[in-house]
Amino acid sequence: MDINNIPVIAIDGPSASGKGTVAQLVSESLGFHYLDSGSLYRLVALKAIRIGIDLNDEEALENIAQNLDVTFAGRKIQLGVEEVADLIRQEIYGNGASKVAGHPRLREALLDRQRAFRKDPGLVTDGRDMCSVVFPDATLKIFLTATPEIRAKRRYKQLMKKGEGVNIATILEDIEARDKRDSIRSVAPLKQSKDSIFIDTTLLNITEVVNKILKQHSEISNKSI
Ligand code: DC
Repeated sequence: MDINNIPVIAIDGPSASGKGTVAQLVSESLGFHYLDSGSLYRLVALKAIRIGIDLNDEEALENIAQNLDVTFAGRKIQLGVEEVADLIRQEIYGNGASKVAGHPRLREALLDRQRAFRKDPGLVTDGRDMCSVVFPDATLKIFLTATPEIRAKRRYKQLMKKGEGVNIATILEDIEARDKRDSIRSVAPLKQSKDSIFIDTTLLNITEVVNKILKQHSEISNKSI
C-alpha cells in the first residue's frame, strides 16, 4: 500500500487540552497506531537534564534526538531499558520539552521518526505541528482547545490523583507560559491550520469529543469509498 494512502488523524492543541487522552481513545476505537509526538520532546528534555546539557545547546540536543533509543509499546515508553512513560509526564519535563522544542535542528531530527508511525491500517497522532508540518496531508485535522482555566483545573485533578502536591495557581501560570512559548516560536508554532476543524472542549467531556472526531472520520471514510 502506498504510504500516502494510509489515513492519518492529526490532532493539535495547547498543553492540557485533553488531546492525548482523546487521541489515544480514538486510536483504540479504530484499531489505529498512536503517536504522542510530545513524548519525543519530553524524552529529549529528560536525557538533556539528566546529563546536564544546557537546553539552549541546539547541537547537543540535535545529537540526543538523532540517537534517542526509544521503544513505544502500547502505553509503555522505554528509553534504553528504562520504563519512562510516567516519569516524562512530570511538569519539569513538560516545561523542558517546551524549551527544547524551539530549536529547528532538533525538530528536523525528529521528523522521520514521527513519520515512520504512519503504518497500516492508520495513525492517530497529537502534538503542536502534526497538521502543519509533520502530516500536512493528514486525512482529518483537528485543533483541540479549552480555556486556560479549565485546562489548569483538569491538570490539577490529574496530578492530585497521582498524589503529586500541586497548586492550581502555579499550574495555570505554567500553562499560560507554555502556551506563549509554544505559540510565539519561529519554527512550527502552535496555531490552528486553516484546514483543521476547531473543537473547543471547555464544555465537553472526553466521550463527546471522541465521538465528534469518530463521526468526522467516518464521514470522510464513507466519502472516499
Ligand atoms: O503535548 P505535550 O504537553 O506532551 O508536549 C510537551 C512540549 O513539547 C510542548 O510544550 C511543546 C513541545 N511539542 C512540540 O513542540 N511539538 C509537538 N508536535 C509536540 C510537542
